[in-house]
Amino acid sequence: MHPPIDYESSEEALDRAVQLLRPAKAVAVLTGAGISAESGLATFRGAGGLWEGHRVEDVATPRAFLRDPELVWRFYNLRRANLAAVKPNPGHLALVELENRLGAGFTLVTQNVDGLHQAAGNKNVLEIHGTLRRVRCVCCERVTDHGVEPLADLPHCAACGALLRPDVVWFEEPLPTDIWDRSVSAAASCDCFLVVGTSAVVYPAAGLIDVARMDGADVIEANLDRSAASSRVDVLLLGPSGTTLPELIKRLH
Ligand code: OAD
Repeated sequence: MHPPIDYESSEEALDRAVQLLRPAKAVAVLTGAGISAESGLATFRGAGGLWEGHRVEDVATPRAFLRDPELVWRFYNLRRANLAAVKPNPGHLALVELENRLGAGFTLVTQNVDGLHQAAGNKNVLEIHGTLRRVRCVCCERVTDHGVEPLADLPHCAACGALLRPDVVWFEEPLPTDIWDRSVSAAASCDCFLVVGTSAVVYPAAGLIDVARMDGADVIEANLDRSAASSRVDVLLLGPSGTTLPELIKRLH
């Protein structure tokens, strides 16, 4: 159940968020699965949070892939098939407007692997958890972009014949170094940090919020419910990001 939204206080929250965002020259954004919820993609920890009885933490690990690659590929092939049917929503589009307003001062760090920010039109996107569109050979490490075209139940590398895996970051794996370094530097150097649709429980991603705070940025959160980060942000916009983000960006004009 969602907490009731008090319109008085959500108006105040929007006004405060506008005050913080309007003067900002450098803005970094961290998004999670919640921003794609209104496009029809399931979040990880909502409504029971289980997939075929498995916690996401149990299908998205190198150990799970070693133990049962078919199960893991079933999970990812289903997620890839979902991508073919979904489109960016007004929350994604609001972030495109924000990038257009800020130009080089805008950085979008996403934990999402769905590619919807790029499909919406964002350019400076750092995919810290990889992307469902690419696969990587477990042996020769060749990376191939297959978009959303269907793959075999257990796909193999065209170059060396070994098993392919999704080119995403699993639990217990390090993040891609260059992309992570650029994310930390965007968080550390921004005037305003916007956190959207993440439960903020998965690290190191959630640590970007603290990097931004410690380096003096104002932090605005847009989330359907309170998250693990809500007690350490300056403004919380409670509600679906497909509504709150367009409203926020509209008020910047
Ligand atoms: P979660 O499923 O943990 O959290 C989704 C968040 O979105 C929750 O805080 C919801 O309240 C919020 N939410 C849901 N619908 C929303 C809406 N319409 N508007 C705004 N907010 C909404 O997803 P993440 O935080 O992205 O990692 O999960 C982090 C990581 O854990 C993922 O990148 C993935 C996962 O396991 C890996 O696979 C490594």
